[in-house]
Amino acid sequence: MAGFVVYHGGPIATMAAGDTPYGLMQGAALVVCDGRILWVGAFVDLPEPYADAQRVDLEGRLLTPALIDAHTHIVHGGHRAAEFELRLNGASYEEVARAGGGILSTVQATRAASEEDLIAQALPRLDAMIAEGVTTLEVKSGYGLSIAAELTMLRAARRLAQLRPVRIVTSYLAAHAVPPEFAGRADDYIDQVVLPGLQQAHDEGLVDAVDGFCEGIAFSLEQIARVFDLARDLGLPVKLHAEQLSNLGGAQLAASYGALSVDHLEYLDADGVAALAASGTVATLLPGAFYTLRETCLPPVDLLRKQNVAMALATDCNPGSAPLASLLMAMNMGCTLFRLTPEEALAGVTRNAAQALGLSDLGTLAAGNIADLAIWSVFHPAELAYRIGFNPLHQRIFGDIK
Ligand code: NIG
Ligand code: FE
Repeated sequence: MAGFVVYHGGPIATMAAGDTPYGLMQGAALVVCDGRILWVGAFVDLPEPYADAQRVDLEGRLLTPALIDAHTHIVHGGHRAAEFELRLNGASYEEVARAGGGILSTVQATRAASEEDLIAQALPRLDAMIAEGVTTLEVKSGYGLSIAAELTMLRAARRLAQLRPVRIVTSYLAAHAVPPEFAGRADDYIDQVVLPGLQQAHDEGLVDAVDGFCEGIAFSLEQIARVFDLARDLGLPVKLHAEQLSNLGGAQLAASYGALSVDHLEYLDADGVAALAASGTVATLLPGAFYTLRETCLPPVDLLRKQNVAMALATDCNPGSAPLASLLMAMNMGCTLFRLTPEEALAGVTRNAAQALGLSDLGTLAAGNIADLAIWSVFHPAELAYRIGFNPLHQRIFGDIK
């Protein structure tokens, strides 16, 4: 049967929600055709029409959904190794930012880069992710902070998906920081850059979602609400960097707009958790930023768990707070630093990451879903989060459905 492939001969972790940990099946088979999963079940029940199809023997290896990184800033110019040194000499992330370093130093480097430069600099980071089984990732703007430079970042992000077999979901993050030319005039920046830039980027088809940074060093609830109002008018979903360094109530604001996700959340409180539970918003945890900034306040994982808030895990790959291009490492950090279980960590980079990006046909191995698969040289799915600095990927399969 042309085009049909049957994977069998190893454990299959479907990551479907339910009572079976990892949705783990032994003696199972999975049938794929033209980039879609057609069937998954016990090998002995393989439907007759697939009996003659091409077979791939997993030889005992583990099959999972391919990984999804739901929060990255991989498109950016330059690096911030000097800031890393400053922080190790005692400066805080906020002090560096207020002194004009931090995000703004990356803005300078990003503005100085062409679209081609940005692509060339992002590709090694993207390749590192692909090498670990990532097929889908979110990429934010937010280091341009002018209409032209934000659009350049988003065009670069879109181009990456033409240069590599990956699916890229873009987020417009002009409300990331106030650029120097608008210092002290955040509202003017929103009026003159963030809002018209969003309209333009949307008109060009560059925006899949709208993001913001709600924080003392960034934007207030009222300012973010104005950006989200336009997103709503344009029919675009929203998400928010919230409660990373303090608790401003960004989670509640984002939840009131039905946000796909709120991200970071170290300072999230019980009211914020309740708001996320009520709106079905994903809590995206970013242990790489927690680790890099040597944060000590933990996100309220227990409360999120108790309230059944879906938790995603992502790298936050960026030049300042999380120079991390390894989603496997983020899984390990999520377990060791945040006390997620290895199953929650894997759900956080598959099923819940797909939900955080609004992608309903990815993240689990179920009939009808896109056949983005990862085959791992491990015995058990817990190994993916447990090993440190070790990449057991055997093969990555990209469903390639446009
Ligand atoms: O997700 N929190 C704000 N933005 C980024 C960091 C940006 C930077 O430091 O360059 C983040 O951590
Ligand atoms: Fe971020």
